[in-house]
Amino acid sequence: MKNYKVLIVLLILSIVSISSFSQSTSHEDSLKSAILTPPSSEKPRINGAKVFGVRPESPFLYTIAATGIRPMSFSASGLPKGLTLDSKTGIITGFVNQKGAYDVLVKAKNIRGTAERKLKIVVGETISLTPPMGWNSWNVFAAEVSADKVKRATDAMVKTGLINHGWTYINIDDYWENNHERKNDPTLQGEFRDANGNVQPNTRFSDMKGLADYIHSQGLKAGLYSSPGPLTCGKCAGSWQHELQDAQTYSNWGFDYLKYDWCSYGKIAADSSQGVPLYNHKGNDSVAAAYPYSLMGAALKAQKRDIVYSLCQYGMAEVWKWGPLVNGNCWRTTGDIIDTWKSMSNIGIKQDKCAPYSAPGHFNDPDMLVIGYVGWGKPHPTRLTPDEQYTHISLWSLLSAPLLLGCDMEKLDAFTLNLITNDEVIDIDQDPLGKAAIKVYSKDSLDVYAKPLEDGNIAVGLFNRSIKKATITANWKDLGITGKRKVRDLWRQKDLGLQSEKFETEVASHGVVLVKLSLMGK
Ligand code: GAL
Repeated sequence: MKNYKVLIVLLILSIVSISSFSQSTSHEDSLKSAILTPPSSEKPRINGAKVFGVRPESPFLYTIAATGIRPMSFSASGLPKGLTLDSKTGIITGFVNQKGAYDVLVKAKNIRGTAERKLKIVVGETISLTPPMGWNSWNVFAAEVSADKVKRATDAMVKTGLINHGWTYINIDDYWENNHERKNDPTLQGEFRDANGNVQPNTRFSDMKGLADYIHSQGLKAGLYSSPGPLTCGKCAGSWQHELQDAQTYSNWGFDYLKYDWCSYGKIAADSSQGVPLYNHKGNDSVAAAYPYSLMGAALKAQKRDIVYSLCQYGMAEVWKWGPLVNGNCWRTTGDIIDTWKSMSNIGIKQDKCAPYSAPGHFNDPDMLVIGYVGWGKPHPTRLTPDEQYTHISLWSLLSAPLLLGCDMEKLDAFTLNLITNDEVIDIDQDPLGKAAIKVYSKDSLDVYAKPLEDGNIAVGLFNRSIKKATITANWKDLGITGKRKVRDLWRQKDLGLQSEKFETEVASHGVVLVKLSLMGK
């Protein structure tokens, strides 16, 4: 009798596990069928940023991103004095003293062939000439981030080959610092600062310099997070009254990126005893909102290291108008994104007002990507459908938005990987002109966005935000062009022939068709 009961329990358990296995495989199968981008060629193709800014005498690190089978050897002609290229890894390092724009020709060679492409290195005061691309810990790990998880994300960036498509930054968000509100978590209970005021990482991050060095050794860059207030949004240590000291610390550790999040600064800016411009909604807002960012902006600039400066204050006081004045390289334009259609599409359509302010070194940031395994400490597969994910990546690329993955890098399924390795789409995001697409047509939740590209061509997104499939037309007159254009479908990497006057196509509900319109011969 007892054996009989055990058998029944075993039977039930196996039925449950078989059905959940088949559910997950059918989910993955349906995702696979949504794959649009053909696999990368075995021949070399050079990807990533075509223009790269560095300040004189700052440490230089640029990895030539290239797809194609390995081994691959790299070479470059025209490199400015002070830079060397590792021919096996494609990593360029060194220091350049002389300001100027240098035209470099980089080459990648394997047994199938050779690719070459121009890289413009601009030694001057502006960095991040194309939108940052990489990963940030928040949308997946939130308060549970650790050095081990960051190191694993670094390894995954290389192992999955994402590094070969230009994905670069490995950014630690909140919770690398100590936190005295989460009393139950012993890993966060250390002092905020040592006796000399130096910020202390929590015990999950025992060796910040070692971690940044490791990230660099892989050809990637490291990012960090803080707040102008005394506490971050997660109530960890912020940089209030330690701005220069913290910037020095980040630089000594070797970090290349800082996300600076308003959070508890709101209380400081409302307190007349603090001696800072008050954020009082009485016409003084942009001065008060910019003030704490200008302090850290100057502190970062004083370092002998290029640190991309990401302002996070959710678009307050029209940050896009003054972000460049505080040395900001990108700025969040809205509140936090979550992985729903409503959140992503609402944020996406709100970008029109700031689009004209996008420029090399200065980008609007509609927040991080919500694809793959996300979930702020409780990860799950994104709730966006494949069509919605194509909309997300297409729109962010058209907007010249920073592309920061927020997912578990060790759980990238075939669909997600395909979605973020389409080099023709990434090229739209990384276009050196740095413009953000403008909505040129919008009716009944059908939108057409157009982005001028450096080579004189135009990227056009036809978006269907309605609940039914629909035919959408991109009219040349709305795009301000005339004559014949070659039309190329960028997700499918397929030429669609020549069109005059308009391009018309059917678009799935919540989906997109992303094309490039080229003049003949381009
Ligand atoms: C929010 C910010 C998020 C994340 C979080 C950390 O204010 O928008 O992206 O950084 O704080 O606590």
